Amino acid sequence: MTQPVLIASERGEVGLAAGMAVLRGRGGAGPGRAMDAVEAAIRIVESNEEDHYVGVGGLPNLIGEVELDASIMDGATRRAGAVAAVTGFPHPISIARAVCDLLPQHVMLVGAGAERFADEAGIARGPTLTEEARQMWQDGLTSSGLADAGTRHGPGEVSYRRKVLERIATMPPPAGSWGTVNVLALDAAGNLAAGVSTSGYPWKYPGRVSDSAVIGAGNYCDNRAGAAACTGRGELAIRGGTARSVLVRLAAGDDPAQACAAALRETADLPDEFRSPLQCLCLTPDGRHGGAATNAGATYAVMTAADDDYRVVERRRA
Ligand code: GLY
Repeated sequence: MTQPVLIASERGEVGLAAGMAVLRGRGGAGPGRAMDAVEAAIRIVESNEEDHYVGVGGLPNLIGEVELDASIMDGATRRAGAVAAVTGFPHPISIARAVCDLLPQHVMLVGAGAERFADEAGIARGPTLTEEARQMWQDGLTSSGLADAGTRHGPGEVSYRRKVLERIATMPPPAGSWGTVNVLALDAAGNLAAGVSTSGYPWKYPGRVSDSAVIGAGNYCDNRAGAAACTGRGELAIRGGTARSVLVRLAAGDDPAQACAAALRETADLPDEFRSPLQCLCLTPDGRHGGAATNAGATYAVMTAADDDYRVVERRRA
């Protein structure tokens, strides 16, 4: 039997105890599945209103709507489910999981189609925009001279779109660890799963899809090599195919931190005037793990079935 392991990006640690309870098995049930542990852990993060980059309390897009992205991938089957630009549902990870389990002919649903499917799958609707997040949005627009952006978004309104793009181009990278949660799990049966959830770049253009919903970019999982996921500037992870790239490196024999750093370095020369940081994590089928980041001081959290609590590990600087 394999020793279960969970790892999570910054701020994902709040969900690790719930995820590990699943992996250990609750109420006499046998050890649980990696897919269930990932979903359980991420739901806790999505419910944390103090986290302004995931689920409830997430920062809205430019017109004040919270649009959520998420994905989940099963390493045993390489089945995946992903959703993007979902509004009105606090737990996009559960919609992604339902796409994976109930809609095997597809991988990704977006916007109104994802919301329709979530209703059909019986997933609960709920508020996602908190007053604190709304105020942060209002203050952000006012300070950048776009106070009316929330009301000027008619179709074809070219001047509005120009202003939005100018605003996004001048946005400084958010300070501190920001954006997105990754949870990677290895269960007692030796199966891996990877999950990602985000509200995306603050004040993003409406309909913008992050790497968190793009399999191969922000999330990839294959029992033969490992599980990998990204946080930070999603456009770079999409252009670099970063999560899949980590697994290619693992399969070639790199150790976990080395594989993450090499995958991040592949994005280093992409032309990109925004230059916000990108980070990734990985977990191998034999329970090794590592992380890397283009910024200093980045960490991740680890918990095994033998631990009472999680511990924090430094990422390698890419
Ligand atoms: N990685 C999340 C984002 O780009 O919004």
